[in-house]
Amino acid sequence: MVSLNRSTTENEMVDAVQLQALLDERREGFSLARPFYIDPAFHDLDIDAVFSNEWLYACNVAEIRAPGDYLTMEIGETSIVVMRAQDGEVKAFFNTCRHRGSRICSESQGHVHRLVCPYHQWVYDLDGALLHARQMPAGFDREAYGLAPVNVEVICGMVYVCIADTPPDITRFRRSVAPYIAPHAPERTKVAHVETLIEDANWKLVIENNRECYHCSGNHPELLATLVEFALPDDPAGSAYFRGLMESQARHWDAQDLVHLPADGGNEFRCIRLPFHRGAVSFTPDGSPACLKLLGNLTDPDLGSVRMFRVPNNWNHFLADHIIHFRILPLSANRTALRTTWLVHEDAVEGVDYNIEKLTSVWRATNAQDARLAANNHLGVASKAYVPGPYAPSEFMLRNFTNWYAGKLAAYLEKTELGRRTFTLHAHG
Ligand code: FES
Ligand code: FE
Repeated sequence: MVSLNRSTTENEMVDAVQLQALLDERREGFSLARPFYIDPAFHDLDIDAVFSNEWLYACNVAEIRAPGDYLTMEIGETSIVVMRAQDGEVKAFFNTCRHRGSRICSESQGHVHRLVCPYHQWVYDLDGALLHARQMPAGFDREAYGLAPVNVEVICGMVYVCIADTPPDITRFRRSVAPYIAPHAPERTKVAHVETLIEDANWKLVIENNRECYHCSGNHPELLATLVEFALPDDPAGSAYFRGLMESQARHWDAQDLVHLPADGGNEFRCIRLPFHRGAVSFTPDGSPACLKLLGNLTDPDLGSVRMFRVPNNWNHFLADHIIHFRILPLSANRTALRTTWLVHEDAVEGVDYNIEKLTSVWRATNAQDARLAANNHLGVASKAYVPGPYAPSEFMLRNFTNWYAGKLAAYLEKTELGRRTFTLHAHG
């Protein structure tokens, strides 16, 4: 048995040999084996191998508009602060004081002039530099004790962070998705509503649920009033109605130079523009716009939605009139926080251009339905009767996701102490 990190206890260890065997036994195109979804040791593994080692969606820049605006997020035990610095740049730091390690910001969001540690009041500026450390001796080198920085990338107003020392390359993602998203100007928005939902399910079940619409017809009446459930323009399951709709919308978007065909994101990301049902332009109960002031410089409300997903924690809808960002973070093996943010044009006026109920009702209902589905899925997977089951053709994105996830764990095994332990055991066993 090998501990994944120093903080794990005896019963929260993953057996490297077992992990390798589970990866070897995995059948592509099938859901994962039970421990991946329910075992606390595998939760720790996911935090180390996936969430500490990937670009994670944090927030939209509109959520931290002024210098001193900040937002915190927890990646396992590790808290970080995403900050609008004095010079207007977005920066991120570990939320851990350089004196004796106290967490500095305890709120999920706020505004500060300086970051002051609540323990002994060391004071940091908005760039993370240590300004004051009272009672420390003369000659104390403040410059050596700034907050540890976290990698940040801002892509079309979307803030991604990575706590790895050497983050994975994100340039292909940036280059691919920017042409789809830029016309919707996510950086020129304001938050209309934000909601966090705690789901009683493993984060991978939350993602798997999100990556297919096989479940939509049985569960999402509000969403299906406007959303077309096919995932690709040439979806083999697509009806004649869908093909006709796709064809006319493609012509409509081509005439405006709006990209719509699927981006080549492999297993890492997906980006595509897809139409709403004929006559609908937005995720509202009747398909009419949720916000009368369109995003950026857009003048045509009928742009369908750009659906963008990125492993491991983010999916989004970019419409002509509003944007919805979804962010997940695993809290434990069986709990996941889903944060949903609805944004409208920065000059839109509540009660005049939009109202919260019309803007949010469809996805609030859909999120609640999905939370029930994922929790129920988790309960069934926890049963000893569970064995991995086959994905339907329309669940091709789950195949992409589980292949990506298995690859991530295999790479982790290869380069860590855990993997060397596996090798040693194999060599002697
Ligand atoms: Fe922060 Fe002491 S731990 S000032
Ligand atoms: Fe759903």
